[in-house]
Amino acid sequence: PHPFFGLFFIFAAQLSSLLCPSPADDTVSAGSNLDMEDRVSQLEQRLQLQEDEIQLLKAALADALRRLGCCEEQSLGMPTGGIHNTGRRPLATAAPTPPTKGELRSDSRGLSGVQMSQRSGGVNQSTSRQLPMGAESRSRTTSSSSSSCGKRYRPYPAMRPCPVRSDGYVRMFLRGRPVTMHIPDEQRESYSLDHKAALPDRKLKLQWVYGYRGRDCRSNLYLLPTGEIVYFNASVVVLYNTEEQQQRHYLGHNDDVKCLSVHPDMVTIATGQVAGTSKDGKLLAPHVRVWDSVSLNTLHVIGMGVFDRAVTCVSFSKSNGGAFLCAVDDANDHILSVWNWQKEKQLADVKCSNDSVLGAVFHPMDANLIVTCGKSHINFWTMEGNTLTKRQGLFEKHEKPKYVLCVAFAENGDAITGDSSGNIYVWAKGGNRISQVVSGAHEGGIFSVCVLKDGTVVSGGGKDRKVVLWDRDYSKQSEMEVGEAFGPVRALAEGKPGELFIGTTKNAIIRAAFPDTLTPIVQGHTDELWGLDVHPTMEQFVTCSQDRQVHLWDTNSHQPLWSKTIEDPARSAGFHPSGAVLAVGTMTGRWLVLDTDTRDLVSMHTDGNEIISNIKYSPDGNFLAVGSHDNFVYIYAVTENGRKYSRVGKCTGHSSFVTHLDWSTDSQYLVTNSGDYEILFWEASSGKHVTSMDTVRNLEWATSTCPLAFSTFGVWPDGADGTDINAVCRSHDGSLLASADDFGKVHLFSFPCSQPRAPSHMYGGHSSHVTNIAFLHDDSHLISTGGKDTSVLQWVFA
Ligand SMILES: *[C@@H]1O[C@H](CO)[C@@H](O)[C@H](O)[C@H]1NC(C)=O
Ligand SMILES: *[C@@H]1O[C@H](CO)[C@@H](O)[C@H](O)[C@H]1NC(C)=O
Ligand SMILES: *[C@@H]1O[C@H](CO)[C@@H](O)[C@H](O)[C@H]1NC(C)=O
Repeated sequence: PHPFFGLFFIFAAQLSSLLCPSPADDTVSAGSNLDMEDRVSQLEQRLQLQEDEIQLLKAALADALRRLGCCEEQSLGMPTGGIHNTGRRPLATAAPTPPTKGELRSDSRGLSGVQMSQRSGGVNQSTSRQLPMGAESRSRTTSSSSSSCGKRYRPYPAMRPCPVRSDGYVRMFLRGRPVTMHIPDEQRESYSLDHKAALPDRKLKLQWVYGYRGRDCRSNLYLLPTGEIVYFNASVVVLYNTEEQQQRHYLGHNDDVKCLSVHPDMVTIATGQVAGTSKDGKLLAPHVRVWDSVSLNTLHVIGMGVFDRAVTCVSFSKSNGGAFLCAVDDANDHILSVWNWQKEKQLADVKCSNDSVLGAVFHPMDANLIVTCGKSHINFWTMEGNTLTKRQGLFEKHEKPKYVLCVAFAENGDAITGDSSGNIYVWAKGGNRISQVVSGAHEGGIFSVCVLKDGTVVSGGGKDRKVVLWDRDYSKQSEMEVGEAFGPVRALAEGKPGELFIGTTKNAIIRAAFPDTLTPIVQGHTDELWGLDVHPTMEQFVTCSQDRQVHLWDTNSHQPLWSKTIEDPARSAGFHPSGAVLAVGTMTGRWLVLDTDTRDLVSMHTDGNEIISNIKYSPDGNFLAVGSHDNFVYIYAVTENGRKYSRVGKCTGHSSFVTHLDWSTDSQYLVTNSGDYEILFWEASSGKHVTSMDTVRNLEWATSTCPLAFSTFGVWPDGADGTDINAVCRSHDGSLLASADDFGKVHLFSFPCSQPRAPSHMYGGHSSHVTNIAFLHDDSHLISTGGKDTSVLQWVFA
């Protein structure tokens, strides 16, 4: 049977066992031939289902309490319009343990099918089964060594959210949970679910990539004759002309790029990528793309179906006109393969090493000689016909390093290696023995060695963050130190005469010249990134991430205007409408206010001890809403242009964590979405829950960032499970809606987006879930942030 049905029946069984627990577990014990793994995964699923059941019960109870609150107020003779909640504390005060993605989806599909119903409008929202949205699923952990981003994608499930039109509202089902969205009176007559939504006329184009992958990739930074440096971030290969402040992008890859080589013609580029998963669940095979850096046209695609997991090293031969290409994949035994890339034909392959392989390069004078290095080895490979024969490098009396980290070639053909012990070894041309030693060249590892055109050698240190210039005899000429904020040296590339480019493990690129010129030209975050907001009047935006960094960016210079390290990992950000201050929400319940000019701390508060998922000022600047994973929204009155805060309300009523919130244009009301797909409305000045739809259905909202709303629900894809959309954002002119999805894509819709499965333009570039999205104040640019890829992409209209 289809696995989906199996799961659904397990779920059904689970329900009945809740009512009358049966001693025998027939799905597991029926003399089955299930192997251990199946059993474990079945148990995990059952556990998950139980957690979900508990969550359902909590949600139902919270809802009952809310209703009870209403009744109490009514019986106390409160007016019926704008019925409020008494502020009763809901049962679930902690963020629920979310389901791991994948397990629950199938069951809820079953539920979705069963639960389709229509009601005649109104407040009956929450009595149905509610399944919580997975919070942790959004901060998925790395599961694959081949990609920094792990296996982030999962396929779209097959069941559709089925919006149901009824009088006055549309109802959609997410994981079996009905989500009710009220139609504004103005549209009530004309609205039809069957109406076909239009694609937006406007299209986006990637304009800027704020980021470089230095953390876990090597030999990935080069200067081209066009004056551009080439490197990669997420699935984008960036060509950056630092003088003209222009970037071009090669967008042929569909997941993380891991390695790069420039052909001796200095125009052709090869880049290798990891295995990915398409949104419909198909495996995207790791491969190498060979492309033209002038036209950006793809010339050849190599190794589809041959490489395993990821291509981690790639290199063109030098001496035979660059006819060969070698690559190493990320299989357990790290296969080294040699290709005639123009014919897309494999010439030879061999198991390279069981240990990690960090570098593979052709000898510059011999196209049949390849040097590989990595964990406790350096190997010299000779290719004859289709066989590759290995000679191990012999360390003899010299210290054997844990890792040989990099290899380069001197003008005379000697190989030069840098290792984890900080030694430089010179391996005389053609041999496998050390001919010269520079011991203690660096304190700690040497991640990069680069031979300059004039024959001098530059080495880059890990622990000591030093860049050292050596003459041809390996005597030290000069040295400089990269600042601690940028981290160890990862890659070195020769720039214009006298100039160097330094890539660092903290993902920065620095333009440098001896003796001590160091100018950062690319900077970024280094840990999961969610926090984003745009300046209300200037071409600036702020990002903050779990790396505790807050960066205020200028969209024209593409540099941070300032950066600030705060005490806690950060999660959300919001500008005051005056632009004078900005608020930052952290992962610990603490939130702070910073002066936008001076970056000084203006104010600091703590609400609960969980993630502050949203922090947003009211349009008039008189209130601040702080949405938390503790299920509450805290409301502050704001005075002195954002310098003084006093709490005026606490919105209690959600039975799951707050995911998104928007203010009404008149700053009187708030709308929130939660992890279990609730849409609740609140009176700002008091924090009271508003249950009268007549009060809120016609409100105008200053922003549209709630993915569960009548004007935005069309962004939900087929079979959405509730975590597919991480963020939406309306353009300021009100004509467009952008969404950030869980599959690495940015979408552009027409606004309002109130037709089921509305059509969109879709854009790749991120390599993990896209966490946030925002139009600049004048709609000139769209900014998107990647969660695990921690890249910031800037889009313009094409
Ligand atoms: C809610 O449901 C009850 C019973 O199902 C119904 O009587 C009532 O009219 C509904 N309320 C609204 C506002 O639709
Ligand atoms: C992209 O760039 C950011 C910022 O430099 C960096 O932290 C991140 O590791 C890069 N991610 C990938 C997947 O290349
Ligand atoms: C790699 O490991 C396998 C199995 O553990 C072993 O048979 C093989 O000889 C090893 N290969 C190398 C090159 O060490």
